[in-house]
Amino acid sequence: MDCPAGTNSAHDKDAEIQYLRREMRKLQSLATLGELMGTATHEFNNVLMTILNYAKLGIRNRDDASRDKALSKILASTERAAKITGTILAQARNRSESLEPTDLGSIIDDSLVLLEREMRKYRIVIETDIAEETPHAMASGNQIQRVLLNLLINARQAMPDGGTILIKLHPSAEKSWVELTVRDSGSGIPRDQLPRIFDSFYTTKTGPDESGKGGTGLGLAACKEVIDAHHGRIRVESTVGRGTAFVIRLPVADKQQAAA
Ligand SMILES: Nc1ncnc2c1ncn2[C@@H]1O[C@H](COP(=O)(O)OP(=O)(O)O)[C@@H](O)[C@H]1O
Ligand SMILES: [Mg+2]
Repeated sequence: MDCPAGTNSAHDKDAEIQYLRREMRKLQSLATLGELMGTATHEFNNVLMTILNYAKLGIRNRDDASRDKALSKILASTERAAKITGTILAQARNRSESLEPTDLGSIIDDSLVLLEREMRKYRIVIETDIAEETPHAMASGNQIQRVLLNLLINARQAMPDGGTILIKLHPSAEKSWVELTVRDSGSGIPRDQLPRIFDSFYTTKTGPDESGKGGTGLGLAACKEVIDAHHGRIRVESTVGRGTAFVIRLPVADKQQAAA
């Protein structure tokens, strides 16, 4: 839709605000999609380099041991490459953009495939605590993956000297929610900034980092938008110098199952 020009009546102003809101939502979701695609493409390229190098090694060293090693490294890398393209294709096809019963544990796994190397590079240890009895959430896997990626990249950027990220997944006490927590041991957020972090364009970064991520101030705004559309909740707990935790609650898919 075009932006209505020359608006002056209250009705026109409303239409203009609606229009700008829609545009803002598009920008926000493009920002998180861009972050995911950037990460996936970068990782894919790294996997290709590993395959290339081990293929060369196998050609140069003709003994069985070297070739076995080269081939098993190539096999493992190829499996990783397939997982990465799987993620890209799922996002591109807009598969599961709608809300459906979703195993968030596998969304966490898929996200870690994309980020494990980057996190190692920045000396960040990722710990997971995934309760097996967690029910499926009513969610769009694609959208939650983008939310998770933004939270993980924010956490990484808050720990320039390395640290720990804990990803926790478990059912809430009353079992009607699935709770996903991303906790870091980073810089923390000053109390006076906390109310603003979900605002569009609010950022304390000077621009994208060397891997092209962050600095738009659109990440958390997009996360909130997604979680609101899921009828879920997102909240933050933070202590300067100790770290930050984002806690997301999503409705369980099967309320009967939740009550059982
Ligand atoms: N885990 C975190 N630790 C410390 N600060 C954070 C964290 N996550 C978000 N922030 C703060 O919130 C701001 C907004 O985050 P976000 O919307 O993702 O935008 P961006 O990453 O582009 O700055 C960040 O610039 C940062 O100041
Ligand atoms: Mg961000």
